[in-house]
Amino acid sequence: MSATPECWAIIPAAGIGQRMVSSVPKQYLNIGGKTILEHAAQPLLDNAHIKHVVFALHVDDDKFSQLAFQDSSQKIRKAIGGETRAHSVLNALEAIKNEIKPNDFVLVHDAARPCLSDADLTKLIDACLLHEVGGILAVRATDTIKQVQQHEISCTLDRDSIWHAFTPQMFKFKILYDAIKQALQNNITITDEASAVESMNFHPCVVEGSSRNIKVTCPDDIAIAEMYLTWNE
Ligand code: CTP
Ligand code: MG
Repeated sequence: MSATPECWAIIPAAGIGQRMVSSVPKQYLNIGGKTILEHAAQPLLDNAHIKHVVFALHVDDDKFSQLAFQDSSQKIRKAIGGETRAHSVLNALEAIKNEIKPNDFVLVHDAARPCLSDADLTKLIDACLLHEVGGILAVRATDTIKQVQQHEISCTLDRDSIWHAFTPQMFKFKILYDAIKQALQNNITITDEASAVESMNFHPCVVEGSSRNIKVTCPDDIAIAEMYLTWNE
């Protein structure tokens, strides 16, 4: 019988947060005394299944080393971020590829999602450990969805089959590594890990998560994240 696969995590945190229009990259903005990055990382650092958490950091990052969890966790690793999110994730995968086994799992979680609950993380890990490829946290679309061309509606899509892809996204190492590498080589646009894996004709599973697990993108999102984080206390 083969050994139980291990889980590793990657947090791409090398973005500059252009849409946030703030003086520091959004992952270093403070909500309730902690940075968004610390909020995002805590569930992964606390989870007993996850062996190491690799942070992909901007080459000029001078803030990560000042964070409070720095000394408190043997789990933390660092990698240099890349030109796009996918490059940052690939750099982190390269940094661990000599230690991780092909069928071990990697969870990729945005540094800009500070409201991930322990319950959703556990639900994702439990589902993906049983799946041959891996899967993602996602939420069902609640609005009616229109396909639009040049500001005119072409059609209404079947909402029952539309989901919003969140993170973490959890895949077997070799599948994810090969998929991202190949997508970047072939100039395929990938905005999340699942789209790279899908481009290899795999079918990741979808695990329904909480709509509170938002990505902080624009200034208004800060107040919403703050509200959810306060509710969670
Ligand atoms: N990210 C990264 N490397 C990049 C670009 C993005 O690691 N070259 C990370 C961000 O730090 C963030 C996550 O990918 O945690 C999701 O990206 P996004 O929300 O788009 O963040 P930014 O790219 O920083 O924001 P913007 O697109 O507004 O510039
Ligand atoms: Mg971006």
